[in-house]
Amino acid sequence: MISQNFQLLSLACNDAKDLATLSEEAFLTKTDPPWSEASFQTLLAKPTTFIGWKGVAPPQNILAGFLLVQNGGPEVEILKIAVAPCFQRQGLATRLLKHGLGNFPPDVTFWLEVQESNAPALRLYSSFGFRKQHERKNYYQSKGETQTAVVLVREPCHIRPPVKGAKRAKIL
Ligand SMILES: CC(C)(COP(=O)(O)OP(=O)(O)OC[C@H]1O[C@@H](n2cnc3c(N)ncnc32)[C@H](O)[C@@H]1OP(=O)(O)O)[C@@H](O)C(=O)NCCC(=O)NCCS
Repeated sequence: MISQNFQLLSLACNDAKDLATLSEEAFLTKTDPPWSEASFQTLLAKPTTFIGWKGVAPPQNILAGFLLVQNGGPEVEILKIAVAPCFQRQGLATRLLKHGLGNFPPDVTFWLEVQESNAPALRLYSSFGFRKQHERKNYYQSKGETQTAVVLVREPCHIRPPVKGAKRAKIL
């Protein structure tokens, strides 16, 4: 299984081209547009504000996935996560998120926006305790299409042990 051999490394400005290529592949069918090399370069030039990890698949060290998070105090935004199509469904996004979220103190609230039709991402985030907070209608606009964005939040209380008999909330 690839996730056993997956290596997590910090992102740097010189990764921008590979990140843009992977982003284009992964977001090909999404209304949420991929980011350009220039966008990644701008983000990665701000090391105090943005943190990210790339996952590479040895032995060729191909860029297999990445996670980009904006660290702005008690509320942390997950900006983007993507796994190259040929490496999807092998646990890589799960590893990226476990590592990424685990790097923050337990009292942090995480949030993000995701397309309402993005079932894989909604399921992934649900498994990490994210819940729907509200919607932004017609938020994504690309190729003549519009899509609603769902704002997902993971409150710090997520790390408390579950209450016995409590029902699990669904976001799907
Ligand atoms: C969303 C994405 C990052 C998931 O990456 P991944 O490495 O394939 O995810 P994992 O293998 O860790 O899967 C974890 C869970 O997510 C859900 N999931 C992932 N892909 C799925 C799919 N195609 N269909 C349904 N559920 C899916 C499942 O619940 C899965 O757990 P399971 O395999 O035990 O059922 C990947 O599909 C992707 O890059 N998509 C395009 C970019 C994107 O939409 N990013 C999110 C918005 S920023």
